[in-house]
Amino acid sequence: MPARIVVLVSGSGSNLQALLDADQQSYAVVGVISDRPDAHGLVRAEHHGLPTLVVDPGDFPDRHAWDTALAHGIADWSPDWVVCAGFMRILGPVVLDTFPRRIVNTHPALLPAFPGAHGVRDALDYGVRVTGCTVHLVDSGVDTGPILAQVAVGIEPGDDETALHERIKVVERELLVDIVTRLCTDGCTVVGRKVTIP
Ligand code: GAR
Repeated sequence: MPARIVVLVSGSGSNLQALLDADQQSYAVVGVISDRPDAHGLVRAEHHGLPTLVVDPGDFPDRHAWDTALAHGIADWSPDWVVCAGFMRILGPVVLDTFPRRIVNTHPALLPAFPGAHGVRDALDYGVRVTGCTVHLVDSGVDTGPILAQVAVGIEPGDDETALHERIKVVERELLVDIVTRLCTDGCTVVGRKVTIP
């Protein structure tokens, strides 16, 4: 039986598309959730015939209510894994406690450098020569969970945020598909901050 995956998106959804385009023998994407009704990732999901759900914080009285609705929305699809693929919100304690060590995030920088919503811009502004992407397990911090895999991307003369992000996303998509496939096939063990995928 392939592992069941729910993907969370906020934007264009190219990482979601990579997961959908890959040879999905080890996993099946069973639903896609966005915090934004206009996320193009929802269109990609619908083109693929997948059910979608919008859980917009603006529709809830407070963060706890949003967190609870998101946890219920994800749980309705009984996923083995939850993948944040460009989901630009910090997950709350209800979601984290419902899926402990079962949530994966992809981030466009080499964590622990440049966490947060502007990882590409922050790396450029800092003047680093190498940045990249990180796929990690999600914990209660901002991009602080145990690291599963990273790939470096060099910064080239004249790079701006858009050009650099597009180059990062090329390797990020491949990395995310590889790690999700391996997690769904073999699982992982976590000891402290160290993660092993057999
Ligand atoms: C990706 O580069 C992902 O790492 C980033 O948003 C992009 C989404 O692209 N996420 C974050 O910055 C989270 N802090 P996509 O919508 O085309 O998959």
